[in-house]
Amino acid sequence: MWLKKVFLIFATLFYWFSLVGGCYEGERAALMSFKSLLTDPSNRLSSWQGENCCSWKGIKCSSSGHVVVVNLRNPHPIEVKININKEVVSNSKNTSDFSLKGNISSLLFTLDRIQHLDLSYNNFMFSKLPAEISNSTKLTYLNLSNAMFQDSIAMQFTNLMVLGGVGVGRRSTGVRLTFPLKLDFSSSLLSFISYGYLSSPNLRWLEGLRRLRYLVLTGVDLSKASESVHWAKPISSLSNLMSLRLSNCNISGRIPIVQFLNLTNIASLDMSSNILKSPIPDLLSNITTLSVLDFSRNNLTGHIPSTR
Ligand SMILES: *[C@@H]1O[C@H](CO)[C@@H](O)[C@H](O)[C@H]1NC(C)=O
Ligand SMILES: *[C@@H]1O[C@H](CO)[C@@H](O)[C@H](O)[C@H]1NC(C)=O
Ligand SMILES: *[C@@H]1O[C@H](CO)[C@@H](O)[C@H](O)[C@H]1NC(C)=O
Ligand SMILES: *[C@@H]1O[C@H](CO)[C@@H](O)[C@H](O)[C@H]1NC(C)=O
Ligand SMILES: *[C@@H]1O[C@H](CO)[C@@H](O)[C@H](O)[C@H]1NC(C)=O
Ligand SMILES: *[C@@H]1O[C@H](CO)[C@@H](O)[C@H](O)[C@H]1NC(C)=O
Ligand SMILES: *[C@@H]1O[C@H](CO)[C@@H](O)[C@H](O)[C@H]1NC(C)=O
Ligand SMILES: *[C@@H]1O[C@H](CO)[C@@H](O)[C@H](O)[C@H]1NC(C)=O
Repeated sequence: MWLKKVFLIFATLFYWFSLVGGCYEGERAALMSFKSLLTDPSNRLSSWQGENCCSWKGIKCSSSGHVVVVNLRNPHPIEVKININKEVVSNSKNTSDFSLKGNISSLLFTLDRIQHLDLSYNNFMFSKLPAEISNSTKLTYLNLSNAMFQDSIAMQFTNLMVLGGVGVGRRSTGVRLTFPLKLDFSSSLLSFISYGYLSSPNLRWLEGLRRLRYLVLTGVDLSKASESVHWAKPISSLSNLMSLRLSNCNISGRIPIVQFLNLTNIASLDMSSNILKSPIPDLLSNITTLSVLDFSRNNLTGHIPSTR
């Protein structure tokens, strides 16, 4: 009897401490840690205080109070055009800085229910992608576009989306998420960072991501990967892929047409601005789902095959 009472009191206390004002204390602490390593010149994180982290700007929780969305996309990126040699060509006139700057806290990846993470156009100052990202197995949307990471993408992402795409929240108060699976690591010439800081020695990390619908690796250096004849083989397992963007990736060799034939849902394929050197393959016309195709700025020869 006595024991039972103690247990009850303990259980009540535990509940109170863990879910204060609709937000789990551990998750709130993880977000606070993330904030503490960043400077925020435009005060975008000014709402990040108080107990209920679910009401903070950029955060959304499921009906059970777990953080499922962290969207800190920079709404007004400074546009700096940089040429291929990473020299600044032009600057936008308005230089108000809306980016978050600093190191990324690995505690962010203790948010184990997170499905949507958008850190695009912030400035993580050439830090590495935290290895702990691989613990976020429920991520279905990851946008690290122009976020100034400097790293080699290898196996950090192999665990992602094991369960992907599941809706959360049974009651209407929660956020319901049915994002198509998207990965965006792009960096562009029209941004405040030069491209080429992210690289990937091979694409084996894509092998398990069969549910992937959008893959954007624009500006990620794949020169090393494309030295191998079979570099694109992992892409052929992504049969759900609808959009593949491999522009500005320093890819050499031939168009990996055989691998692309497996992409039975592909609507948009962009391999512009690489160093491809090959005849345009006739088999291109076998990919009948395509509505956008861009192979511009390569060194291709031959003629475009007629459509069937
Ligand atoms: C710069 O752009 C931001 C966002 O569009 C705007 O809020 C701000 O007032 C602008 N600053 C100047 C000096 O024009
Ligand atoms: C970011 O983290 C790295 C490694 O943990 C550290 O060496 C560096 O000083 C940190 N940078 C800043 C700006 O805090
Ligand atoms: C990642 O997940 C594993 C297994 O659940 C756990 O042991 C490890 O502590 C986690 N790491 C982080 C940084 O959360
Ligand atoms: C990633 O974010 C950028 C803007 O910050 C946006 O332009 C791009 O479309 C996003 N990528 C995806 C796949 O949603
Ligand atoms: C492209 O790859 C070559 C080596 O294959 C390298 O020397 C060059 O710096 C790369 N260029 C860019 C823009 O990454
Ligand atoms: C590519 O498609 C062929 C024929 O549909 C299939 O046998 C093969 O397993 C696929 N390759 C991969 C890597 O999924
Ligand atoms: C390409 O399409 C042609 C005509 O439909 C067909 O005969 C051929 O087998 C296809 N090739 C491959 C590799 O799918
Ligand atoms: C393109 O290929 C042709 C013939 O192989 C070669 O002469 C030319 O130098 C190449 N151009 C570039 C920009 O690599």
